[in-house]
Amino acid sequence: MAGHTNASMNAANKAKNDEFYTLLTDIEKEMRYYRKHFKDKTVFCNCDDPFESNFFKYFVLNFNRLGLKKLIATCYATSPIAHKQLSLFDVIESDRPIENKPYKAVVTKVYDTNGDGGVDMFDVAELFRQHENELVELEGNGDFRSTECLALLDEADIVVTNPPFSLFREYVATLVEHEKKFIIIGNSNAITCKEIFPLIMHNKLWLGVTRSGTGSMWFRVMDDFPEKSGQKVENGVRYQTIGNSAWFTNLDVKKRHDEFILVKKYKGHEDEYPTYDNYSAIEVSKVVNIPLDYEGAMGVPITFLGKYNPDQFEIIGISGELAEPLYVDGKRKSGRFYIDGRRLYDRLVIKNKHPEKTKESH
Ligand SMILES: C[S@@+](CC[C@H](N)C(=O)[O-])C[C@H]1O[C@@H](n2cnc3c(N)ncnc32)[C@H](O)[C@@H]1O
Repeated sequence: MAGHTNASMNAANKAKNDEFYTLLTDIEKEMRYYRKHFKDKTVFCNCDDPFESNFFKYFVLNFNRLGLKKLIATCYATSPIAHKQLSLFDVIESDRPIENKPYKAVVTKVYDTNGDGGVDMFDVAELFRQHENELVELEGNGDFRSTECLALLDEADIVVTNPPFSLFREYVATLVEHEKKFIIIGNSNAITCKEIFPLIMHNKLWLGVTRSGTGSMWFRVMDDFPEKSGQKVENGVRYQTIGNSAWFTNLDVKKRHDEFILVKKYKGHEDEYPTYDNYSAIEVSKVVNIPLDYEGAMGVPITFLGKYNPDQFEIIGISGELAEPLYVDGKRKSGRFYIDGRRLYDRLVIKNKHPEKTKESH
């Protein structure tokens, strides 16, 4: 019985942990690198309350500038923010019953409805009110895996959102299975997991352009969001910073083709690059120290992905998969690389596709 209660409490806490909302500035910063991809495309935000999500707001306000064909947003029934939206919905449907229902918004035209010289959210609401665009209750609960939402997914070209972190792997698997292009926010810890890493290794998924760095990406949270470090309140609104959040995409971006300029040499500095006890590769403990003249396998920190250019490097694997079992102080160890019995953090194993040939000295 107690176990059951704990399980439901954990589920509830997990769900609360999923409730944080992306700021418009962070969306704007990332989206400017993908402009060319949006022309004549249908964008789907499938974890997004149309009236609260800044993803919806970004795409609806930039609808004409980006040349979108269609914008669709759906939200999830239990999202606490779906309660908050009511005042906005009331503007549109004043006799609508007050309840927490998930909606689907479908936008095909956006224009200035009141001649004030620009398009704003008032115009967006007005276009729904005039049934120029569609705003209807979903039949189901808005789960991205529901038949109804999967049908919308199939209609879409590009999915852009910040999905629930607790379902991230399943979320990505769904997008991949439906062969969608996407730009989504995730936790960079997901890189090493067995569902996500193979996609990265086979160039089916990569990191986006902007980074949260050390906690600079803030998200809006509800008042009942669990207390954690890295929170602030501004004008009565609570925010949480999530330091290791990152953008993941399978759309081509220029940054992915920027050459990472290497300055260090292996030859003559071999002692700075020890080999692992349990895998045949050299250890490069900092990405900036990748040598320009090494032909073989190199282990590098995961942060390498921020510099990864597939024309320049090949990813061979990850330490979790490649590390051979070994014994340290009589205990069997596996899953990580070791140097002189010292356990290292996760490493990607890479090869330089065009290492500089060192001239043989005569
Ligand atoms: C991290 S929040 C981000 C919300 C919004 N996309 C944004 O960026 O502001 C994830 C959202 O996904 C919703 N969600 C949770 N499970 C879901 C599911 N199975 N299907 C669709 N949405 C879900 C949550 O209610 C939550 O609002």
